[in-house]
Amino acid sequence: MAVSAWHGLLALSPDPPVPAAWALNSWTAPREIPVASIGAAADALRAIQRNWGYLPFDHNSRAALITARLPHLAPKPLRFPCAAPTSHLGAWTLLAPDRLLASPTQTSPFINGEVAFVEDRVGPPSRAYLKLWEACTLWRVWPKPGETCLDLGAAPGGWTWAIAQLGARVAAVDKAPLAPGVARLPGVSMRLESAFSLDPAHEAPVDWLFSDVIAYPSRLLTLVRAWIEAGRVGRIVCTLKFQGATDHEAAESFAAIPGGRVVHLFHNKHELTFLWAKGK
Ligand SMILES: C[S@@+](CC[C@H](N)C(=O)[O-])C[C@H]1O[C@@H](n2cnc3c(N)ncnc32)[C@H](O)[C@@H]1O
Repeated sequence: MAVSAWHGLLALSPDPPVPAAWALNSWTAPREIPVASIGAAADALRAIQRNWGYLPFDHNSRAALITARLPHLAPKPLRFPCAAPTSHLGAWTLLAPDRLLASPTQTSPFINGEVAFVEDRVGPPSRAYLKLWEACTLWRVWPKPGETCLDLGAAPGGWTWAIAQLGARVAAVDKAPLAPGVARLPGVSMRLESAFSLDPAHEAPVDWLFSDVIAYPSRLLTLVRAWIEAGRVGRIVCTLKFQGATDHEAAESFAAIPGGRVVHLFHNKHELTFLWAKGK
């Protein structure tokens, strides 16, 4: 896909939309609209639909005056577990004081792909749990009470904490121990070993396989393929971490796995998240 210009974080392209794993949000039907005044800009947007999220970059004061004339959208931080909203949402920005760029449709259910949660600053020993919450929220599915989960690369235990809060059973796998408060939670067990030493063909089936292991994406690809081929897992959530140059080849191989997709979460750093569901 050719990029003709950048507008802040927004890459403009004359080409049709394509899947873009690193994009938090893609504008799928963008159009330029000449607008003679602030009122005309608000009228133009309202004539298309109700809900619009503004992407800040240039001309923000003028944009604020336009926003004030649009229906008020002030999403509250989400209280997990909850599914991503399904309400229709578009995106707009000002390319120039008298020129809107607006897309009535976008790929993310959130304004600019950004999602905030009501955080727990006491229970989890790391903030990594926000990635798991975001992945499940976007996917609109999360472990149910009694379901079985493996959490690879679990220490110090943010993800394990989040899974245990849902009432699921979780075996945490890491060479490092869990924080004691997490290790004591009901439904949590610990295996002090390498995620790569497990042989999926000889493991008990699990409903969910989670991985936040620090490892080369190509190594994780082999691990994930082995779990899928063994038929021992229902769903996978796996972080792909890139140190230095991005391994695009591995990311594309993940995306090509049938039933899988690769996304960049708002709470990911230089990472992607692989989501996979059996039979999907
Ligand atoms: C980013 S941290 C995980 C954070 C965790 N998800 C949380 O929410 O607290 C990465 C973890 O991967 C673990 N790790 C690295 N290599 C591993 C391996 N071969 N097997 C299991 N864990 C590994 C590290 O010990 C570290 O605890």
